[in-house]
Amino acid sequence: MKNIDTIGHVTGKSVYLDDIPTIAGTLHAAIVGSALAHAKIININFDEAAKIDGVERIILHSDIPGENQIGSIIEDETLLAEHEVHYQGQPIAIVVAKTERIARKAASLVKIDYKELEPVTDPREAKEKGLLLIPPRTFRMGNTDSAWSNCKYIIEDRVDIGGQEHLYIETQGAYVYNVEGGYIKVHSSTQGPTAVQKTISRILGIPMHMVEVDVVRLGGGFGGKEDQASGFAAMAALATYVTGKPVKLVLPRHDDMRMTGKRHPYSADFKIGLSDDLKIVAFETTMYQNGGAAADLSPAIMERTLFHSTGSYFIPNTRVTVYSCKTNLPPNTAFRGFGGPQGMFVIESAIAKAAEQIGVDTIEIQKANLLNESDEFQYGQKAENVNARKSFELAYEKFDFENLKKSVENYNKINKYSKRGMAVMPLCFGISFTNTSMNQARALVHIYQDGSVSISTGAIEMGQGVNTKLAQVASIVLGIDIKRIKVHSTNTSRVANTSPTAASSGADLNGNAVRIATSALKKRLIKVAAEELGFNEDELNIENEVITHNGNPTQLHWQNLVKSAHLKRVALSENGHYATPIIHFDKTKEKGHPFAYHVYGTAIITTTVDCIRGTYTIDDVHIVHDFGNSINPTIDLGQVEGAVVQGIGWLTMEELVFDKKGKLLSNSLSTYKVPDIFFAPKTIECIPLPTNGPDLAVLRSKAIGEPPFMYGIAAYFAIQNAIKAFNPKHTLKFDSPLTPEKVLMQLYE
Ligand code: MTE
Ligand code: HPA
Ligand code: MOS
Repeated sequence: MKNIDTIGHVTGKSVYLDDIPTIAGTLHAAIVGSALAHAKIININFDEAAKIDGVERIILHSDIPGENQIGSIIEDETLLAEHEVHYQGQPIAIVVAKTERIARKAASLVKIDYKELEPVTDPREAKEKGLLLIPPRTFRMGNTDSAWSNCKYIIEDRVDIGGQEHLYIETQGAYVYNVEGGYIKVHSSTQGPTAVQKTISRILGIPMHMVEVDVVRLGGGFGGKEDQASGFAAMAALATYVTGKPVKLVLPRHDDMRMTGKRHPYSADFKIGLSDDLKIVAFETTMYQNGGAAADLSPAIMERTLFHSTGSYFIPNTRVTVYSCKTNLPPNTAFRGFGGPQGMFVIESAIAKAAEQIGVDTIEIQKANLLNESDEFQYGQKAENVNARKSFELAYEKFDFENLKKSVENYNKINKYSKRGMAVMPLCFGISFTNTSMNQARALVHIYQDGSVSISTGAIEMGQGVNTKLAQVASIVLGIDIKRIKVHSTNTSRVANTSPTAASSGADLNGNAVRIATSALKKRLIKVAAEELGFNEDELNIENEVITHNGNPTQLHWQNLVKSAHLKRVALSENGHYATPIIHFDKTKEKGHPFAYHVYGTAIITTTVDCIRGTYTIDDVHIVHDFGNSINPTIDLGQVEGAVVQGIGWLTMEELVFDKKGKLLSNSLSTYKVPDIFFAPKTIECIPLPTNGPDLAVLRSKAIGEPPFMYGIAAYFAIQNAIKAFNPKHTLKFDSPLTPEKVLMQLYE
């Protein structure tokens, strides 16, 4: 089963926000962003800008009829700045004009006088100054204080982790128009249509039922449109409110890069203690999350960092604290892995450092501490159906680890100025929104008289293939051809109160809602079939579009059954509601059972470093991944490949550079480099771990979107090991991204 969007994508027929035909008279908006990272606004002068032919309106915070507030978890963020700005690019005014070009030109002519204030860009400095977005949180298990005395080895160090630009191909944008009587329709490139609806309702001071948000698909989101799409949609909605005309706002790449938040940089201190037999006895870490100028999703991201701070390992004594620090950078936000990658990078750094100091291979410590069945995570959940060791052992055996290691060693013996390195990354990622209440979804399913089926859910298609999976679920449950099924746009008037499509749970939550709705419809249809055929309901089924009796085809076809049901006045529409059972979490104790299940896997990555230039190639990526019972191996493999390359990019070449004043220097594609086809690993081999898959995954097919991102961590350590092979004085450094410049310095240090 191919992705249903494949043909549309490769023929250019798939519709994105910017392809939606606009209504005559549509105006275009451009944003005036702050030139400084921290300043008081003294004066705004738009005389020059207003003079330009075609400029319709220049909108300020004072034009907002409702509340100037877009903070979702914490109310600490304005839509348009009032008296102060807190990051470079922060929206201050919106210029609305006849064309996009005029709007952008006029925006550049708006003159703002500032009184500059001292910016803070470093999270540790922010913490020292008491600049925190929310109070810190600590997870703990056992007692680290008393555990240190039982440790043979105690190792401490510091880790610095860089951020990451989402670089979705489609930038942020929205198109808004009045339908009638203040009812507005919004097309938004968002992962969270309900968040957009709520934000607009708040900004305009109108009820949510006056706002209809519709999303066909995104040209990528990667978390960057979970929360941050709301502000841009609200700006377009405000402009529509003020002008009474349709308004389109699509960010130029440059604005998107400087105005939007990114993956959070973290800085951390760790202390790890091991026994004689390499068991990790205790682990403590304090992490400083660089949150940027407003909370955005940082509190939830901080939470997932805490959850994943022990990686795939059982550690009996832990104490992990995260500070969410307020700095003068754009508010950092969700990005594939959602704080998990940073937590895992710290524990992997601690293990690698311990191995270096003790004088063993990192893999020995990893192996000795992998989770076993019923081990308790520091947040109270017991590990069930643990595949940590199984995937590790399968990877070791299938990819012939010992031989691979020998070939790397041999290469390094023969080559003087080219060195290879390898590293292993065991993965354990929790599936569910860490905020329990968000784990719900609905599906509205219609069967039309001709037997065709329409599905609407809260899921957003952003390239990850969720629509294909939803159609597959309906096709499997109803026993009909997938061609009869159309997955419609995500629309807040058809499916309400949706959680964003995030936390890798889009298919699980919405797919289960589809399963529930279609199962109810099937039951009703089978009842009709039983009446028509004179058999018992429990002897009937629908297979390959035909009603079967004890497995044998009858004369009754799907299409005729649907027709009869309609004539009998049987309801052919159903609304399915799904809420993940079992999960709960008590924040006062920091204990509970937050995840429906965990995804496991193991990656082995090899690299070759050019020891004259500091450049490197990522050679081979070998993965054993726990897909459960994948309903779409093609899509899932694509997700693994995309995620692992994105993960490698995060820790190697993708370098966000802000100057001391908080100005983003890597603000275009010429200064911010992501992996391309030349940099991508020569091979990515991924074999599935044979398992049944858990009950709580949709049709036992495990969530796939984020987990493989973290396999990329192995690339960092592989490069470190190659440097070690060249420079015997080298000690491990934990300062990502590991750009060729840094590699070169470390080779000759
Ligand atoms: N894949 C593509 N092609 N584009 C994306 O934007 N987002 C990732 C992942 N895979 C993304 C993607 C992120 S951050 C998440 S949370 C999941 O997809 C969301 O979709 P799912 O819940 O349906 O897996
Ligand atoms: N993951 C992704 N997005 C989220 C989460 C989460 O756990 N919680 C809130 N938004
Ligand atoms: Mo993904 S970071 O949960 O959108």
